[in-house]
Amino acid sequence: MCGIVGYLGKKNVSEVLLNGLTTLEYRGYDSSGVALNNGSELQIIKSVGRVKDLKEKIQNEKLIDASYGIAHTRWATNGGVSDENAHPHNVGRVTLVHNGIIENANMLREKLENEGYTFKSETDTEVIAALIDKELKDSDVINAITKATKQLTGSFALVIMIDGEENKLYATRKDSPFIIGLGDDETVMASDIPAILDYTNKYMLLDTYEVAVLTDKTADVYDENGKKVDKVVKETNYLKEEAGKNGYPHYMLKEMMEEPTVVENLINYYKDKLNDLDLSEYEEIHIIGCGSAMYAGMIGKSLFEKFANIPTIVEVASEYRYEKVLYTRKTLVILISQSGETADTIAAMNKVKEREDVDTLAIVNAEYSTIANECDNVLFIKAGPEIAVATTKAYILQALVLTLLARETAYKKGLIKEDEYQDIIKQYELLPKQIRGVLEKRDLYKNLAKEIYKNEDVFFIGRGIDYSMSMEGSLKMKEISYIHSETFQAGELKHGTISLIDEGTPVLAIITDKKLKDKTYANVEEVAARGAKVIIVTTEDIDVYKELKIVVPTVSEFIQSILVVPSLQLLAYEIAVLRGCDIDKPKNLAKSVTVE
Ligand code: F6R
Repeated sequence: MCGIVGYLGKKNVSEVLLNGLTTLEYRGYDSSGVALNNGSELQIIKSVGRVKDLKEKIQNEKLIDASYGIAHTRWATNGGVSDENAHPHNVGRVTLVHNGIIENANMLREKLENEGYTFKSETDTEVIAALIDKELKDSDVINAITKATKQLTGSFALVIMIDGEENKLYATRKDSPFIIGLGDDETVMASDIPAILDYTNKYMLLDTYEVAVLTDKTADVYDENGKKVDKVVKETNYLKEEAGKNGYPHYMLKEMMEEPTVVENLINYYKDKLNDLDLSEYEEIHIIGCGSAMYAGMIGKSLFEKFANIPTIVEVASEYRYEKVLYTRKTLVILISQSGETADTIAAMNKVKEREDVDTLAIVNAEYSTIANECDNVLFIKAGPEIAVATTKAYILQALVLTLLARETAYKKGLIKEDEYQDIIKQYELLPKQIRGVLEKRDLYKNLAKEIYKNEDVFFIGRGIDYSMSMEGSLKMKEISYIHSETFQAGELKHGTISLIDEGTPVLAIITDKKLKDKTYANVEEVAARGAKVIIVTTEDIDVYKELKIVVPTVSEFIQSILVVPSLQLLAYEIAVLRGCDIDKPKNLAKSVTVE
């Protein structure tokens, strides 16, 4: 949700900033801007549209010979999409870029207006700039930043330029990600690791309210009391190539094609590492996340209940954070998040952390993230960078970790016998190759996509764990192809929604549960009788009598979803290709949702 970049060094500043924005564009892309500085002059250029529109605008400008600068790509929250609302914002001595959202901005704006400030934009960010400018009148810079940020409610990562503070940038954060890359005679800051990799693999993170004073050679950090802090410099082993498209036309396709490898790596990684994490004592599990992360949680719920006999609740974080939750039994709360920075999931985590009797376990990709740092336990999914806004490999790995937890818990509780357990383990070993087989059937998905792409409504149906898979398939379809898509428990359709089925309406039926296959098939016949174009997604051992189908190998129930969902992801992708959609950056979306 918005990407910020800052640079101090000898390279061409505007090029470095634009390069960073291009890498971070997945975080927001309705407008962007840069502020360049040569020590005496400040030049701000902004543009609505994509980063390429900003690049074009910059090419037509006479640029100052900058030695440092800041930049931003926006996903609008406060105020519409316009040049005025695009960052950077400048008030008095302060020019800054902001990632996050300030909840008390209106109240602060009013106060500042009463004190004589006027505002050019509708943004919360301009309010922060004014607040720092005001505090600068009777404090030094570090103090002024701290005094200002302490008045903010909400989340922020800020990179700040101050008039009169030549060749220096200031940065601070709370509940929004921010990385300071430390190169040789250059310092580069960004919202995410991939944006610093062209310059350095050494980086440092800021804790809440810490203020960094940055030059091309130094990075000094002060805590909220103004005391200098010794920071640990870390090294990342992310490779820039990992974050590139590797020859694929879209990040989403590249990331789906990585699924066999990342699944194999994760299975090997957790081979002996889950022994210390004993969930068998828990009497209840709550799984919390947003969007796809929550849908991965639904897979976990089915397995924990069916195989480990642990009652499990799955809830979206934006509801859970406000619900009255009764923790009546020994409960584990599992928080799932690719980014580890999703605002609602963080809020849900904070709510749980107030309870000393409830344990938290994070399933996260971003290792330096808030959720990874603050839960009692963390299991990383090790997906590497996921750049496409629609998640694919991270969802698969989130679900995979849950399957491993359910499997191990069931085994520890003696609910799966030794020979069955050993057989399931062997099946996990075969999984990467089988996923590769599913992904290789590009022609099948392309042909099925031709059957669907002209429709404006699609329905998914399934029962039990098949319903959970449908939810993810349907989300992928709507977010990248913009086809209206809904999911129903197969038996529920006839209680109303079947009225929407017309001649040729595509209905995708997921049927992998052998006990329920005949029931779902009966629902398939009901929609077929009303003219639906049915596409069945099933396993090799289930006979279904429909022409259009996707068939995947039959595997243990623990991992069947890990074979089915890649086919749904690829189908959604092929449909989006035929509809000419902007697949990696669907409209209105952003990768990391750091606002409520
Ligand atoms: C859908 C998608 C979103 C995310 C959700 C949670 O393709 O990507 O639904 O799954 O915004 O994000 P994280 O996992 O970063 O908390």
